[in-house]
Amino acid sequence: MIPDAKAAAKEFDRWADAGRAESMAQGHLGVTTPVIRSWTLNAESTVLDVGCGNGWAVQALVERGAGQGFGVDIAPKMIARAIESTKEDDRYNFQVSSASELPYADNSVTHILNVESLYYYPNPAAAVKDWARVTKPGGKLAIIVDLYLENKATHSWIDALDVHVHLLSASDITAMAEEAGWRDVKWYQVVDPRPIKSEAEFTVSKYWPSYEMYLDYRQTGALVIEATR
Ligand SMILES: C[S@@+](CC[C@H](N)C(=O)[O-])C[C@H]1O[C@@H](n2cnc3c(N)ncnc32)[C@H](O)[C@@H]1O
Repeated sequence: MIPDAKAAAKEFDRWADAGRAESMAQGHLGVTTPVIRSWTLNAESTVLDVGCGNGWAVQALVERGAGQGFGVDIAPKMIARAIESTKEDDRYNFQVSSASELPYADNSVTHILNVESLYYYPNPAAAVKDWARVTKPGGKLAIIVDLYLENKATHSWIDALDVHVHLLSASDITAMAEEAGWRDVKWYQVVDPRPIKSEAEFTVSKYWPSYEMYLDYRQTGALVIEATR
């Protein structure tokens, strides 16, 4: 079944109420930090995080020197958290929006980040295309996902999640980006630097039916797709 944006908004509002915005931030920090550090950011940089959750990565990008930090998310309660933690700081702009119809003008941002969000969209290709529209020539894109075809251990999430998702491969996302007009598209995998839990520390859950699957996930790493506009 195809993902549904309204269902995703409701589900991620529930995650926000349950405090999962903060745990996601912790979970995604290790694989996102190398991308954030690799970008050259200055007062002229306008960064946009699509599917930004509570806005933690937007804040990290502004702290590293970007002049302006934008974030959009389909879930109003995620955006409320992002606004709450950055209010009265006019470097930030957070809006409730679909990833594929951004509320920004053509050629208005220099960097787009997208962390663990692409596969929830009804039409990921349309989203990647709209990101090309709002990005200035020479701007940068980084998409990071844990759930992807080559990361078999994460396929258990497809049934565990209460929303529908696309199972995309590295070459699917690469092709989408090239089709949308991004150039120099490359992909690689990055391993989370946090310590791997021992079997005694591990708890079976619907996401992790076995310790072996958790280990496989930690050893495979996240998929990163980078491109230039
Ligand atoms: C797993 S969370 C990741 C959040 C954040 N990027 C992070 O790393 O903490 C996925 C996010 O994508 C958002 N999302 C899902 N579908 C969306 C859509 N169609 N448009 C915009 N955001 C969407 C969700 O509301 C949720 O906040």
